[in-house]
Amino acid sequence: MNTLLEILESRLLTALSKAGIDLPVGFPVKIFAAADVRHGDYQANTAMALAKRLKMNPRELATQVVDALEVDDLADLEIAGPGFINFRIKSETWSQKVGQLINDPRLGVGSVAEPQNIVVDFSAPNVAKPMHVGHIRSTIIGDSLSRICRFLGHNVTTDNHIGDWGTQFGMVIYGWKNLIDPVAIEADPLQELLRLYRAVNLLCKEEEAIKDECRDELVKLQNGDAENFAIWEKCVEVSKVGLNKIYDRLDVSFDHWLGESYYNSELVPLVKALEAEGLARESDGALCVFSGEELPPKQDPFKEKRDGEWSDFPMIVRKGDGAFNYATTDVATVDHRLKQWNADKIWYVVDARQSLHFQQLFDVSKRRGCKAKLEHISFGTILGKDGKPLKTRDGDLPQLADVLDDAVKSARTVLEEKSGDLPVEEKDELAKMIGIGSVKFTELSHHRSSDYIFDLDKMVALQGDTAPYLQYSYVRVRAIFRKLEEEVTLDADGLQITEQGEINLARTLSKFGEVLPTVLDDLKPNILSNYLLDLAKAFHSFFEACQVLKSEGDVRKSRLVLCELTGRVLQQGLGLLGIQVPERM
Ligand code: ARG
Repeated sequence: MNTLLEILESRLLTALSKAGIDLPVGFPVKIFAAADVRHGDYQANTAMALAKRLKMNPRELATQVVDALEVDDLADLEIAGPGFINFRIKSETWSQKVGQLINDPRLGVGSVAEPQNIVVDFSAPNVAKPMHVGHIRSTIIGDSLSRICRFLGHNVTTDNHIGDWGTQFGMVIYGWKNLIDPVAIEADPLQELLRLYRAVNLLCKEEEAIKDECRDELVKLQNGDAENFAIWEKCVEVSKVGLNKIYDRLDVSFDHWLGESYYNSELVPLVKALEAEGLARESDGALCVFSGEELPPKQDPFKEKRDGEWSDFPMIVRKGDGAFNYATTDVATVDHRLKQWNADKIWYVVDARQSLHFQQLFDVSKRRGCKAKLEHISFGTILGKDGKPLKTRDGDLPQLADVLDDAVKSARTVLEEKSGDLPVEEKDELAKMIGIGSVKFTELSHHRSSDYIFDLDKMVALQGDTAPYLQYSYVRVRAIFRKLEEEVTLDADGLQITEQGEINLARTLSKFGEVLPTVLDDLKPNILSNYLLDLAKAFHSFFEACQVLKSEGDVRKSRLVLCELTGRVLQQGLGLLGIQVPERM
C-alpha cells in the first residue's frame, strides 16, 4: 500500500510533466506533511523552488501545476502565499485510508524495494570491565535500529563484538590466581571479575612488581599458556552468562557474539597484508597506518580537525612489543563481515569518544577496497541531575544492572500510588515493564548525539513525554474494548471519518508509514518516539471530543476502528523501540 504522501508525490510529478514543465535533472519533487493543519494536510513548495530555477513567477507556475494536478479523488487544493500548494485530504479519503489500515497487518508501512545486508555492531561491553551506562545507550539504540531495519525489510545481522581479549586480562588472571572469592565468582561472576580487575588495578599502582607479574600473565596468555588460557576461557564464559541476564531483562538478543578474540588467528596474516599493500609502515618501533590520500569528503565540517588528528595519531596495528590491538582486530572484523555476511552497510553504535578510531578504520577499509558503507552511529553522554556525567556516590560510572534496578523500583512506587489494588505479582511484572521501558524511551526520545539528564522521577511519570504515558495510552484503548458488550467486526465497511477529532487521529495514524522509514535517514529512533507521543496526544484529544461507547451505528464502529488502530500502532511502534505494553495498569 502506498502512503498518501507517495500517492500525492507521484500525482504531482505527473502534473508537472502534463503541464509541460521541464524538470532540471535531479530536481526533487517533494511534498511535506503540513506543519499547521489549519492550511491543509500536506504542502508542496515545488512551484516556488522550480520558479526560481526556471525564472518564472511562482504563483503563476503554481496555478499551472494545480490546473494539471488530478487529485479530485483525494484532496482539495489551494494556492497560498507566494506559491505553496496546499492539499486538504477529503473526509472520504480518510475513511478509505482508515479502512485500508485496519486490513493491513503492516499498518501502512511498506517494505523497502531493495533490501540491504546491514550489520549492526552494538552493545559490545568489555569482559571484566563494568557494563556501564555508556553501553546502555549503545545497546538500546542498536537494538531499536535493528528492529526497525528488519521491520522495513532489510537483512539485518546483529553482532556483539565484546572486548574479550586485551590487556585487562593480565590483571584479571593475576587476580584470579591470587585473590578470587570462589563463592562470589559462581554467584555473581560479573561483579567478582570487576572486583578482581579493580583490586589488581589498585595494587599495580602501588607496587611495580605486581604490574610486572600482570604483564607476565598477559604474555603467557598471548603465547597460549594452557593454565592462563583456561582461566581466560572461564572468564569469558561466566561473563557471557552474566551479560545474558542483563540482555534478558532488556529483551535484547544478538545473532552473533564474535568478540575480539574471534579474530586472533587472523591478525598475523592481516598485518602482513597491510605491509604488503603498502598501507602500514614502521614508526618508533610500532607498525602504523598513516592518514591516506583518500581523506573524507571536502564538505565534511570536521575535515580540518580530522586531518590534524590523523597525522598526529596514526592507527597503530602492531605495538612496539609485538602485540596487536583494538584497531587491528577491527580491520579484521570488517573483512569478516564483508566476506561472511556480504555486508552492504556496517553500523557501529559506539560512543562519540571513539570517533577518531572509526575515522581511521573507515579510511583504511576504503583504501583496502571495502565497498560497503561504514557508519559510526555515535552518541553523547548521560548526565546526572547536576548536569555532569552520571556517577555513583563513590564517583564510579553507574553500572547498567543498578540503573535498571533503580528504574524498576521507581516504577513500582508510581504503580503503588496509581494502581495499589492490583495483585502484587502483576504489579511486579508491570514495574519491570514500565521501569525498563522508561529507561529505553528516555534514551530513544532524545536526539542521539545530545547528552541528556537521567532523572528517574521524570522518566517513570505517567504524565509527560514518557514510556508510561504511552503504555497507559495503550491500556486505555484496551479498556474500551473490555467494556464493549457486543461483538464488533473491525473492518473497512461503512467507515465515516468526519469530525475534527476523528480526522486528526486518522491523519496521525496514516502517518506511521510515512514517518517510520525516515528513522533510517539519519539513524535517529527519536523520530519514531516523537511520532508515538503525537499519536497518543491525538488519541486523547479524540477521546475527549468524541464519544465512543455512547455512540451508535457506523459512527460507533468508525470510532472503535480508530481506537483499535491506535492500540495496534502504539504496540507496534513501541515494540520497534524494544518497549512492551501491558493490557492493564
Ligand atoms: N568494546 C568496545 C568498548 O566498550 C566497543 C566495541 C565497539 N565495536 C567495535 N567493532 N569496535 O568501548
